[in-house]
Amino acid sequence: MKKLEENSFDPRYINKFASLMTVGNGYFGLRASHEENYVNQTRGMYVAGIYNKATVNEPSDLVNLPDVAGMNIELDGEVFSLLTGEILSYKRQLNLENGELRRDILWKSRTGSRFRLTFQRFAAKNDRHVLATKLTVTSLDKPAQMKIVTGIDAQQTNFGRQHLIEEKVRVAEGDLLQGTYKTTESGHTIAIATCCTGSVKGEMSHTAKNRQLLSAINQNLLADTPFVLEKMSVIFTSLDGDLRGESPEEATEAVLRSCSAVGYDALLHKSAGEWAQFWMEKRIKVASTRDFDQLAIDFSLYQLEVMTPAHDERFSVGAKGLTGEGYKGHVFWDTEIFITPFHLYTEPEKARKLLRYRYLRLKQALDKAATNGYEGALFPWESAFTGEEETPEFAAINIKTGKRQKVASALAEHHIVADIAYTVVKYYQNTWDDWFMKKEGLELLKETSRFWISRAVEENDQLVIKDVIGPDEYTEHIDNNAFTNYMAWYNVEQALFFMDKYGDDDRQLKDRGHEFLKRLYLPKANDDKIIPQDDTFLSKPEIDLSRYKQAQGSQGILMDYSRQEVNEMQILKQADVVMLLYLLPDVFPSDIIYENLRYYEEHTIHDSSLSKAIHAIVAARAGEIEKAYEFFQESCLIDLGPNPQSSDEGLHAASLGAIWMAAMFGFANVSIKNQRLSLDPKLPSGWSELAFPLIFQGSRLHIALTHNQAVITKVSGDDVCIELNGTEFLVSDKFAMDLH
Ligand code: BGC
Repeated sequence: MKKLEENSFDPRYINKFASLMTVGNGYFGLRASHEENYVNQTRGMYVAGIYNKATVNEPSDLVNLPDVAGMNIELDGEVFSLLTGEILSYKRQLNLENGELRRDILWKSRTGSRFRLTFQRFAAKNDRHVLATKLTVTSLDKPAQMKIVTGIDAQQTNFGRQHLIEEKVRVAEGDLLQGTYKTTESGHTIAIATCCTGSVKGEMSHTAKNRQLLSAINQNLLADTPFVLEKMSVIFTSLDGDLRGESPEEATEAVLRSCSAVGYDALLHKSAGEWAQFWMEKRIKVASTRDFDQLAIDFSLYQLEVMTPAHDERFSVGAKGLTGEGYKGHVFWDTEIFITPFHLYTEPEKARKLLRYRYLRLKQALDKAATNGYEGALFPWESAFTGEEETPEFAAINIKTGKRQKVASALAEHHIVADIAYTVVKYYQNTWDDWFMKKEGLELLKETSRFWISRAVEENDQLVIKDVIGPDEYTEHIDNNAFTNYMAWYNVEQALFFMDKYGDDDRQLKDRGHEFLKRLYLPKANDDKIIPQDDTFLSKPEIDLSRYKQAQGSQGILMDYSRQEVNEMQILKQADVVMLLYLLPDVFPSDIIYENLRYYEEHTIHDSSLSKAIHAIVAARAGEIEKAYEFFQESCLIDLGPNPQSSDEGLHAASLGAIWMAAMFGFANVSIKNQRLSLDPKLPSGWSELAFPLIFQGSRLHIALTHNQAVITKVSGDDVCIELNGTEFLVSDKFAMDLH
């Protein structure tokens, strides 16, 4: 498996690579900031679920925890920095196969001495509380004096917002540093313990000052003799479900002692074993003319794994996973629509956990609906730990007025309600998990339906849904957004279906639901076969978007026009009608899909990372395979591309999920139709094979597709009924079929 590499040090990319090369395990994520300090470098370590409000009026932040990765290294009195002296060689690699990050540097100091430094780190996959790091330093020319200062640095903030009270710091048994912190508003306790071991022979001293608990190690380096320092760190919080009666402090100490005794290499070996299992069960393999495709897919899967807190249903996945503070770590529709599908088809229990995150916050969604004058459940546009609405009140400056612009999503981006319901249905269709569906899934469907029924209003003898924002956030406060109306319809239809299935005879809801389905206005395609995005969209003026499309992702249009002005033109930030065509493909005939894809893509800047891969899927399904491949390639560049700033504040979690989706739902064209798994492959000409594992209704399958053949193997579970290019058959062992 190829590694993700950085082959030279370029300070402009320091934060992008810090996001890209994050190590993590779903419990915590540590940005790949360098050990040594740089002025523009943003360090970050986050534990899933640990949020806090810096002040009462601000939304919660995913708290940037005290740093344990930083090290100040002095070599013969000179501070090691890649900005001074000379870099003779530099290589950094994230080994996706075993989760280890490694940096190898040959550095010449200003006084001309050469040193070899290797930095290694990983987040243990087999023990989620453990971060292991290792430093190897060799003085190549002569003996040298080295000083390392490292420990626990609680000066970290979330872009200046400090979330932690330093409750207690101490040094135990001469080498164990421990800090205990409490979030100022949410009241969570975080204990961090760290300890340096290795070939330390020199003296070690400790200081605690200005929220920094540090050890200083003075060491003589012999010429050409590697010096090794291992630093293990352990984190526990009061939210942990595996404290076994201990306090977070006690737990850190016990685990730290045992992992320090095991040592870096042996710990890595264990953790790598879990990664090997992951890749065996989940890896997609493509034989492509471009090696980059495989790397991009591997990278997406690695990140999807490290961003998902599978250990606890009270947490979900933030828009940047655990890689940065963008969007404050909040949870959006990204989770259900872009991230859950990967889990659903590879480890359905994780998909259920992510849905249970919503179920456990149903009360807050009921409250939000009631406060806004609606019935049922109105899930927040942005959510964190408590399940209350977390969308910030303001966004960027209006370039015309100089005033900050309000974010309208919390008030009107209501499609998230139907997106959650949609994923509940998809979960059931794959798993037939009646245990979840009968109670929790059904309750989610019923309460979300109640919301839509109360949200619609009477107009011209039909029901309409007014004043919403669809997925396209460049078009606000519009009536009858096609995406929202169709998804709301589907939400209610499915609720009624499952109510019947489980014999739920809530008569009132059923009657109101049927009435809603009969009378809700569903925008139909016009004479040009275009489905109006909303009531007014198609009558708005168009402008040439080529300049903005070239700089997609930068939201450059908002530098030339205010949001209000953008709102009054036919400009899309991201897939909207196309998103609808992706989610409900069977509702629309193929000519309508084709025409709408063409029309709306022309008007879409793709300023959101949630856009390109969805276009890839819809284009592939429509038979526009090479166009789809272009969209796919471009979506792979959202984080991995050359733009230096694009991922500074974290990776685009949804777009990583969408890369997996494009391969599966676009090129393999996997779907569930009439309770059967359906495949209708559309491989790009540059791909000679696409092979992947998949779980469907509890059975584990392996599917290998070429342009001429499909080979489907049942690895375990019951026989599975599959529809391949329209032909049905039962897979009980291994099945091969020619494709024409
Ligand atoms: C997109 C939303 C998305 C959010 C978080 C916004 O820019 O428009 O659709 O949910 O980012 O990723």
